[in-house]
Amino acid sequence: MNGDAGRPARSAGRGAAAAGSDVRTGLILALETSCDETAVAVVENGRRIRSNVIASQVAMHAATGGIVPEVAARAHLRWIVPVFDEAREVAGLADWAAVEAIAVTQGPGLAGSLLVGINFAKTLAYIHERPLVPVNHLEGHIYAAWLLDPDEPERPAPEFPAVALVVSGGHTFLVEMQDHLQYRLLGQTVDDAAGEAFDKVGRLLGLPYPGGPAIMRAAARATRGDIVFPRAWMGDSYNFSFSGLKTAARRAIEAERRAAGGELDDGTIAALAHGFQESVVDVLATKAGLAAERSGARTLILGGGVAANSVLRERVERRAAALSIPLVVPRPALCTDNAAMIGAAGFFRARAGERAGLALDAVPSLRLVE
Ligand code: KG4
Ligand code: ZN
Repeated sequence: MNGDAGRPARSAGRGAAAAGSDVRTGLILALETSCDETAVAVVENGRRIRSNVIASQVAMHAATGGIVPEVAARAHLRWIVPVFDEAREVAGLADWAAVEAIAVTQGPGLAGSLLVGINFAKTLAYIHERPLVPVNHLEGHIYAAWLLDPDEPERPAPEFPAVALVVSGGHTFLVEMQDHLQYRLLGQTVDDAAGEAFDKVGRLLGLPYPGGPAIMRAAARATRGDIVFPRAWMGDSYNFSFSGLKTAARRAIEAERRAAGGELDDGTIAALAHGFQESVVDVLATKAGLAAERSGARTLILGGGVAANSVLRERVERRAAALSIPLVVPRPALCTDNAAMIGAAGFFRARAGERAGLALDAVPSLRLVE
């Protein structure tokens, strides 16, 4: 995370959020508004979910076939208070003294959307005199692997060293973690993110927004596997590239349309979706497996919205099983954007002493690793 605007201003009177005494209750109140989900959660000790409330804007953005940033920001403004109220109620949070820190996504994301969550978090931190902890959204996707549902039996935390593959709508990268909050970048996309490719190809196929889940459902209906798309292996690197695949898919879709003399039939859409998904999943699973093997990882972590994809989960699981290491992948609803993951990462950041002042600003292009 880069240390610019909003980094510690402890001596600046009102600029310092942590005016109250530090408590170590383990309870983190977390907010996430980086993109199109308004989310608030309460998480205990970086793991146990006490509440996790999400107001999704998906249906609203489906009407425009994608996110209009100003519309997203206004929707956050509309929903942040009711979502917060519900998260507090479900968690049974009556006393602010029980809250160790308030964690909020600082970036990356849409500026106007981030600002709603950040400003709300600042207000809470100021009024209730609790520390304010900025969290990188991508770090949240990794830390979703630590989460436990309210009624889920205890299970050991992911062991280090770990290799994490994060595949979301805006990012695709592989990192190695020797310990908490320490990342070594192994590779990343040189052009489109995997989720972005899913969304664009979904649109070309005439499927509803967002394209990822729609392509997964269409691909599951495929009865033929004769449409095969190229894989961009990027040499021996851990980098990814999906723009060539997107172009190949566009050409194939156009060719099938011409051959059909207009609309694509359902079987062809399914075959195209299947071919596309296979190409993305093959590259992602292969590189994640190789990275885990070569770095001697004891855990493989998969996260981000595209990790909700059942075929990707299964292929990466196979790679991990071949290496006799566990794959930790959150249930699908914890792979897509949520605030519980910010609460998990926020706990470890808070315990590492991370604090932001009340001048905290959004950083739309915040990086996880420099
Ligand atoms: O992590 P996320 O919820 O938001 C970002 O941080 O970007 O990821 C959203 C992305 C979208 O591109 C969406 O199409 C993709 O995750 N996605 C999927 C699936 N569910 C969501 N992609 C493939 N298969 C899915 N089942
Ligand atoms: Zn995300």
